[in-house]
Amino acid sequence: MAQGITYTNHVGDILDKVLAGIDYNKAFIIADENTARLVVPRLKSTVLAGVPIITIPAGEESKNLETLTYVWTQLSDLGATRNSIVVNVGGGMVTDLGGFAAATFKRGIRFINCPTSLLGAVDASVGGKTGIDFNGLKNEIGAFSMPLHTIVSSCFLDTLPMTEIKAGYAEMLKHALLHSHDLFCQLLKTDFSTSFNTDAFLKTMEQSVAIKLQYVDSDPFETGTRRALNLGHTVAHAFESLALKRGKPIQHGFAVAWGMVAETYLSHKLFGFSSQDLYALAQFVLDNYGAFHITCDDYEALIAFMTHDKKSRDGEINCVLLSQCGAPQFDAAISTDHMKEALDIYRDLMHI
Ligand SMILES: NC(=O)c1ccc[n+]([C@@H]2O[C@H](COP(=O)([O-])OP(=O)(O)OC[C@H]3O[C@@H](n4cnc5c(N)ncnc54)[C@H](O)[C@@H]3O)[C@@H](O)[C@H]2O)c1
Repeated sequence: MAQGITYTNHVGDILDKVLAGIDYNKAFIIADENTARLVVPRLKSTVLAGVPIITIPAGEESKNLETLTYVWTQLSDLGATRNSIVVNVGGGMVTDLGGFAAATFKRGIRFINCPTSLLGAVDASVGGKTGIDFNGLKNEIGAFSMPLHTIVSSCFLDTLPMTEIKAGYAEMLKHALLHSHDLFCQLLKTDFSTSFNTDAFLKTMEQSVAIKLQYVDSDPFETGTRRALNLGHTVAHAFESLALKRGKPIQHGFAVAWGMVAETYLSHKLFGFSSQDLYALAQFVLDNYGAFHITCDDYEALIAFMTHDKKSRDGEINCVLLSQCGAPQFDAAISTDHMKEALDIYRDLMHI
């Protein structure tokens, strides 16, 4: 399952080098309307100059069968063959959908990922999960398919809206919690008023991707340890579902930040995770992400979402927790009372 990966702020040079080492007949870029406008012209790849750009609408609502059909049709009409290659230039929506389009076109053609959002770079573009949303369910249809190469860069982050930077940063915080106390403390020092398109930040991104890849390589199809990457996600998904029900969707990365606060409390309660680290995380999240507002009247609905979560077993709430930074505890069954207590503490820590 190993994939090539390069960390660079000279994306065009690396793209040219990678493409020069591959035998292919035609290349195609898949981008969304934002990355086609803001990033593709800055790729500075000589080899890709003039290749067809398949542009799809931006946003999660476009990660669907209709867009996928459009991409397949374009590839077919433009003469793609099994020996063609796709270069995905975009955030996680583009790498998920473009990767799945490539994985299924003519039984699978090769693809390269050029993630342009922070979440795409440190999470979505590595690990081989591709797919689309279907029938109202996220990532309902998909395939494990590894990109031939992923080029991780911080150089395109300067046009990314700050809320998207923060959303990606939440997954970096999760990786740090799964890795070590030192990295966790380092990440808590970040000041979001500084710039992110720097070589120093690229190094931090590299560390984050390496942590994800460690879990992916040890368990490519998520039957065991890779599930650690779900830290914070049981509560996060419930918050997202509640927000959707209220007609006010929230960003996944923000939900993960809030979910990690509730789940590190459970980690403290059930596995002795340090209360000092819990408070430090909660303060960082409050300062930079604000809070998702809930009252005790929402608990029943939230718990119902959690028991229907894909991670739950036999109707039990299931979380990945931590005994300390770098020490995940799998399959922790959470009682309704403990989850209500965690939601109470979340509200206290978030001052709501
Ligand atoms: N495959 C996986 O393992 C995995 C993991 C995590 C998330 N995901 C998926 O990733 C998606 C979320 O990814 P995302 O947050 O990158 O969303 P996204 O791709 O929708 O990008 C967010 C927004 O940022 C814009 N954008 C991207 N790069 C830009 C840039 N450099 N400058 C300006 N605008 C830019 C996009 O056009 C979009 O409007 C979800 O569909 C999620 O399911 C997949």
